[in-house]
Amino acid sequence: MTNKARCPVAQFDHHSPEHTESHVAIYKKLRDETPVAWSESHGGFWVLSDYASVYEASRDDDMFSSARHDEYGGPGLAVTVPKAPTQFHIPIEIDPPNSAPYRKLINKVTAPKAAEKLQPLIKHYVTGILDSVIESGEADLAIVAGVPAMVTVDWLGLDPADYKMYVDAMHTLVSAAPDSPEYRHAADVAVPQVERTVRAHIAHRRDNPTDDITTYFIDSDVNERKMTDDEIYSILELIISGGVGTTASLVTQSLVWLYQNPEVRTQLIEEPSMLDVAIEEFLRVFSPTQALGRTIMEDADFHGCPVRKGDRALLSWASANRDQEQFADPDEVDITRWPNRHIAFGVGVHRCAGLYIAKGLAREIFTQVFERMGDYVVDLENMVTYPDQGTNAGFHSIPVTFTPGERLLGDTPMFAEHYSKA
Ligand code: HEM
Repeated sequence: MTNKARCPVAQFDHHSPEHTESHVAIYKKLRDETPVAWSESHGGFWVLSDYASVYEASRDDDMFSSARHDEYGGPGLAVTVPKAPTQFHIPIEIDPPNSAPYRKLINKVTAPKAAEKLQPLIKHYVTGILDSVIESGEADLAIVAGVPAMVTVDWLGLDPADYKMYVDAMHTLVSAAPDSPEYRHAADVAVPQVERTVRAHIAHRRDNPTDDITTYFIDSDVNERKMTDDEIYSILELIISGGVGTTASLVTQSLVWLYQNPEVRTQLIEEPSMLDVAIEEFLRVFSPTQALGRTIMEDADFHGCPVRKGDRALLSWASANRDQEQFADPDEVDITRWPNRHIAFGVGVHRCAGLYIAKGLAREIFTQVFERMGDYVVDLENMVTYPDQGTNAGFHSIPVTFTPGERLLGDTPMFAEHYSKA
């Protein structure tokens, strides 16, 4: 898309190596100089980086649509820039009011009380994964990133022993550079494998109902009718992709920061009651889902910029969360910051459906890491960050050493691979 009349134009590409290296500084410059700007990367898009514009756009679904409009920016997942080649996702790619009946169903199983019921399952997997390394005194702390995947697939009634397949597929799509070999493998091989597995599971559950979440969706009505397999698959794939990488990103970034700030780590170990407020600050400052896309549906003046119907836009939650107009000392990590109106979970009708589950996961992972390997030392030289931090930020690998401890569960076959390394 050409853009002579657009102003201002910024050199910005959230999938570039420069962005991976210095996204905090790049977003700060944008906020200071051009909070709404046009980028020529990826076919052209508006990048919204200050709190006011991101907040306003997220709440205006008529003008900033989340729906697929293949005629603008090509086919694919409408809420990433560029569009990712995945399955249509319900309800994130449906604008209101049609998104509401689906969202109501999802809310029933993700509301605070329902999320609380998942705590024993979360505790089980956190205990198991830490058991698998606790005796050795050394580990890749990024293994905790597997827990959100285990919990999510178990909750859906899928086999948790396959959790790596889901991580490979869903996580790679948001942590590898578009069109890199890893990304192509995820899109062409891993995601289709997930699709075959989950569709077979739905078909099996239609004949063999249980009390799992897949059965719940099969039995539920939307607009006074049962859902098709396509609709159920679309919801399940969104829940898996929402649940797998994001919480992992939050926890891994926070654990590395806590190693670098030992007085705060000690404070949280000594006063676990501070954890919930601290998690809100980690969400603000690390914003696991950095930025997502929309399609503009009408010509308008938006914050002084001439946006046009069909333009794509990138809303940066990460940048908004460091806007000094909204947060005092935004680059300071203050684990007592309150109120904390961060928008790491988005804003408006598509605000994260899994946020209570995410916080429950984070709380349990921090609690057990602090209790069982609270003196962990990170080998900062040998950490591996996600090669692309445009959509999700975080670490693939965090080598650590710590004082060895005892296992709390017996042998668990799905963790055997880690035992052998111990
Ligand atoms: C720290 C962890 C998480 C973060 C930062 C996060 C972030 C987000 C964001 C920013 C959105 C808004 C998308 C938009 O407006 O386009 C979203 C939506 C969503 N998230 Fe999360 N998420 C997290 C964890 C989870 C988990 C654990 C699940 C599932 C168990 C989940 C399921 C969803 C779903 C289903 C939506 C779509 C909601 C809708 O369209 O109505 N998320 N998430």
